[in-house]
Amino acid sequence: MFRSDLPPDIYLSEKYLDLENKKIFRDMWMFAGVRSTLSSKSAFLTRTIGGVPVVITTDDGVTLKAFENLCAHRQMPIQSKAFGKRALVCPYHAWSYDHHGCLRAVASAELYQMRQSEKDGIKLREFAIEVIGNFVFVNLADKPRPIGDQFSAEFLTQIADVTSYFDPQYAYTTFEVDYNWKFNLENVMDYNHIPFVHTQSFGGLIKRKEAASEENQFREDVVWDAEEARKATVALPELSYYGTAEMSLKPRWYTDLVRRYGDRDLYYSWHLYPNVNFCSVAGEWFLIQQYEPISPKRMRYHLWVTTAERLNKKRDLTALMVGLMQAEKKIIDEDVVFLNNLQRNLHTGASSALHGAYEYRLIRLGKWYRDNVLAGEV
Ligand code: FES
Ligand SMILES: [Fe+2]
Repeated sequence: MFRSDLPPDIYLSEKYLDLENKKIFRDMWMFAGVRSTLSSKSAFLTRTIGGVPVVITTDDGVTLKAFENLCAHRQMPIQSKAFGKRALVCPYHAWSYDHHGCLRAVASAELYQMRQSEKDGIKLREFAIEVIGNFVFVNLADKPRPIGDQFSAEFLTQIADVTSYFDPQYAYTTFEVDYNWKFNLENVMDYNHIPFVHTQSFGGLIKRKEAASEENQFREDVVWDAEEARKATVALPELSYYGTAEMSLKPRWYTDLVRRYGDRDLYYSWHLYPNVNFCSVAGEWFLIQQYEPISPKRMRYHLWVTTAERLNKKRDLTALMVGLMQAEKKIIDEDVVFLNNLQRNLHTGASSALHGAYEYRLIRLGKWYRDNVLAGEV
């Protein structure tokens, strides 16, 4: 067994969230939304990343831009909805910005006595953006690392491929829960809770645990040494991975209505460090879940559901997506009961986690966190 040397305080204290914001959320490429929701003129979406309000917008439906969603005048959010179609005009005093984030026009201009040279210098803070297939990533760092330093080339190719099967229609929901975001991350990576926590809803459907390619699989015949694990250095791309599990499902009524990804008898799951999991049942529909910290003991859940691309665009699958979303929400609610309980009872003097071999990914995660988030700071 492996005793984690991470203190319970990483789930309790503001100090650690500040560090995570600095070293993870405002430094890495963060999943921010789905490309195909930004394909019309003046489409936008807003997100909060590492506590920073961000708007991703397009004027022509082709080129995407990411800005801090705060007006240069008195810092009002320029877009206040989660999604929409609207030009970059601040609702407070109607300053408007062009596609490059430069101040274009000021309403009641005479009141400001703004010189042209002052006006020319006003621009929204812009962030780096990368589109991988249908996924949009934003990076808030001043000098963003190449996205290929965060995810392996293979992993990025796979994301680009699978997300190209998405239908353009989505269901989306968001809600808040009372626990640290890392509990959610660890729970999603921990397949061994499924038969106990999801007895009724989900547990019976998964036949095998994690399959995937050789290197992604923990084989029971491998001699596993806790001390070696403690010494090993973990590279960032190793924290993102892919796995499959066999599923036994009867064909669904929508099976032949969509362009399937992959294999009908597989459940697919991709983990994108730090806070995204996306999965597919039989390649017929997809769920994206993201866990965004709000405070040490609270996070916001984001869920997107889409089907694989409809073969006939006139066929309306909205009701199906809503039904799938409701079913997923029910499964998540089962986890939430446990994770709330975990958070409520954790305290500074509690012991650290004791991991077994199957949790080797959690061990690596902790190792990376210690060496990269805590190093030199605490
Ligand atoms: S705060 Fe935006 S125009 Fe005043
Ligand atoms: Fe679960």
